[in-house]
Amino acid sequence: MNKLPVNYELSHRDGKARAGVITTPHGDIKTPVFMPVGTQATVKTMNPEEVRELGADIILGNTYHLFLRPGDDVVAKFGGLHKFMNWSHPILTDSGGFQVFSLGAIRKIKEEGVYFRSHIDGSKRFISPEKSIDIQNNLGADIVMLFDECPPGQSSREYLIPSIERTTRWAKRCVTAHKRPDDQGLFAIVQGGIYEDLRDKSMNELMEMDESFSGYAIGGLAVGEPREDMYRILDYITPKLPEHKPRYLMGVGEPLDMLEAVEHGVDMMDCVQPSRIGRHGTTFTKYGRLVIKNAKYSLDPRPLDEDCDCYVCKNYTRGYIRHLFKANEMLGQKLATYHNLYFLIKMMNGARDAIIDKRFIAFKEEFIGNYTQGKD
Ligand code: GUN
Ligand code: ZN
Repeated sequence: MNKLPVNYELSHRDGKARAGVITTPHGDIKTPVFMPVGTQATVKTMNPEEVRELGADIILGNTYHLFLRPGDDVVAKFGGLHKFMNWSHPILTDSGGFQVFSLGAIRKIKEEGVYFRSHIDGSKRFISPEKSIDIQNNLGADIVMLFDECPPGQSSREYLIPSIERTTRWAKRCVTAHKRPDDQGLFAIVQGGIYEDLRDKSMNELMEMDESFSGYAIGGLAVGEPREDMYRILDYITPKLPEHKPRYLMGVGEPLDMLEAVEHGVDMMDCVQPSRIGRHGTTFTKYGRLVIKNAKYSLDPRPLDEDCDCYVCKNYTRGYIRHLFKANEMLGQKLATYHNLYFLIKMMNGARDAIIDKRFIAFKEEFIGNYTQGKD
């Protein structure tokens, strides 16, 4: 068997929590890791140098968006996504599965793939498992996701069973279609909603192709199901995944959920939330969220988070950043994005150090104790 291009070395454990390193053709990723999202070949408002400076080891790109605009053929002509966007470190691309299913009424799922209308110009489009992999081969990310269906969090067993079976058939088609197995690692995506036995079904079917996969994602969570269901499923499925491959929880970026996931043995997470709320003026602090437009910050000389040592917190006051938001100045969005991404990456680095020192639970409890205080 050929060696896979993306590998995981598990270095430390603390309970079920894990610290390790993922190796990829564009460099190493220390885990647990938070991955900033760069949907359209940019982490919104940020230069790649800044994304690197704030500590990101890996960023995400999106098959759906880059296929529609500028087109994966265009990106390929520029030598792939790394060169196109000037980011020479690891990249992961999501398959488009999640994004096309989020289109709701304007898409139709068939055995051959998904028909949908572009959200940009309304044109008719089609993505199949083969097409998703072809697009991702053109984009050239280090980690490529299988084309799956991500059903809503409240889906019934009757809906989920045929959906899982189709996602498994699509997984086989993706594996066959993959043309760059030497420099792009494939990640499978376990579905199954909030049902333990259906999670087992999805995982067991995918594991039959285990030699083709560099890692496993847990999909279909944080999509509208109650939080207790998400935690219960994480607790159930994570320990069953292969120990020596990374586990990626898709679409989770709320600090408390992230620490819960790390406690259960998740290694990778992503979410648009921290950058999105940042652009709307909500920032993370040690003591919870802060809404910077609030009048009470107009004369506040403190940084966004007194406990943060990021570039923004070292150089700017709440009063100034509030002014930028009130005046609709772009710099406000950028500074808030920078700080929010830094905050989550620093939290994950703290979690990693705590796992290595076998004090993860104490770290988590202290973090939560502060974060839920709500003072500023
Ligand atoms: N992003 C968040 N959840 C999912 C999922 O279940 N599948 C995919 N492909 N992307 C996601
Ligand atoms: Zn900061």
